[in-house]
Amino acid sequence: MTKFSRKRLLVTAAPLVAAGPLARVAFADAEHSATHEGHDHAHAALGHAAMIGADVPSIERSAAIDALLTPPPALPHRPGRVREYELVARDVDLEVAQGVTYPAWTYNGTAPGPVIRATEDDLLRVRFVNGGGHPHTIHFHGIHPATMDGVFEIVQPGGSFTYEFPARPWGMHLYHCHATPLKKHIHKGLYGAFIIDPPKPRKPAQELVMVMNAFDTDGDGENNFYAVNGPAFYYARHPIRVSRSQTVRIYLANLTEFDLINSFHLHGDFFRYYHTGRDELVEYTDTVVLAQGERGILEIDFANTGHFMFHAHQSEFAELGWMGFFEVVD
Ligand code: CU
Ligand code: CU
Repeated sequence: MTKFSRKRLLVTAAPLVAAGPLARVAFADAEHSATHEGHDHAHAALGHAAMIGADVPSIERSAAIDALLTPPPALPHRPGRVREYELVARDVDLEVAQGVTYPAWTYNGTAPGPVIRATEDDLLRVRFVNGGGHPHTIHFHGIHPATMDGVFEIVQPGGSFTYEFPARPWGMHLYHCHATPLKKHIHKGLYGAFIIDPPKPRKPAQELVMVMNAFDTDGDGENNFYAVNGPAFYYARHPIRVSRSQTVRIYLANLTEFDLINSFHLHGDFFRYYHTGRDELVEYTDTVVLAQGERGILEIDFANTGHFMFHAHQSEFAELGWMGFFEVVD
């Protein structure tokens, strides 16, 4: 496979991505970013419809991707109740940007995998079947026995293992494969969001899950596309409709490999940010920065209706797919 830098990909790979106006602008901007002309060109074009709607270079609407955005409902506190999930590792070719396919390793066919949700003190039971071509595990963040940690019980292709432990502590967590080489197993797509609800229920809200991820489609150890929940630019092409009358709550986790940090920035409003989903650690801001494995909960009470952008506040990540829109309606 030809080895070339991300910068070079930006310049040369435009034909790889079906040539939507945004793609052209993104690539052109990278190529000419030192010139005033390049900026003018980008601003002129980006100011129009190309950033949102049918021309955005993302995939068609996908039921599997849409399912990742909405978590299963929270259940009331009932200690000892069994919460069961089944995760099957599968090697799947995913379309991670329009016309760009990536040979992913997945839990249940998507990267990220399904949202796992429990209430504190539920007995969580996750049956893992390895239908992929490599040894895998599931490592959960949280409190559990060493034998349930996804480090020692390497599950070979064709094998299975059942993880079982009481769900705690409440908060926003994540899970991922912990087979070696770890960097590869995470980057290939084996990760997901893990929500543990507090005994005292959170206030009702419009709940969303966003797992920040990226894909190195040319295998040079640098990411070429960035997103939340999978395909680049998905929520720019398919904005997330929310109501102004109720809090929007986002469960956010960073599973981006290779890059040290990722971030979430909201336009036109502020949010409360709960680090690790814990009420003790809250700030009021419009931008949060997360290292890999960091996660938290955002609560937005939109003041206005209309389309509001959200994106990584690393401009390059945004231009390579990690951006989208809320459509706030009454
Ligand atoms: Cu693995
Ligand atoms: Cu981890």
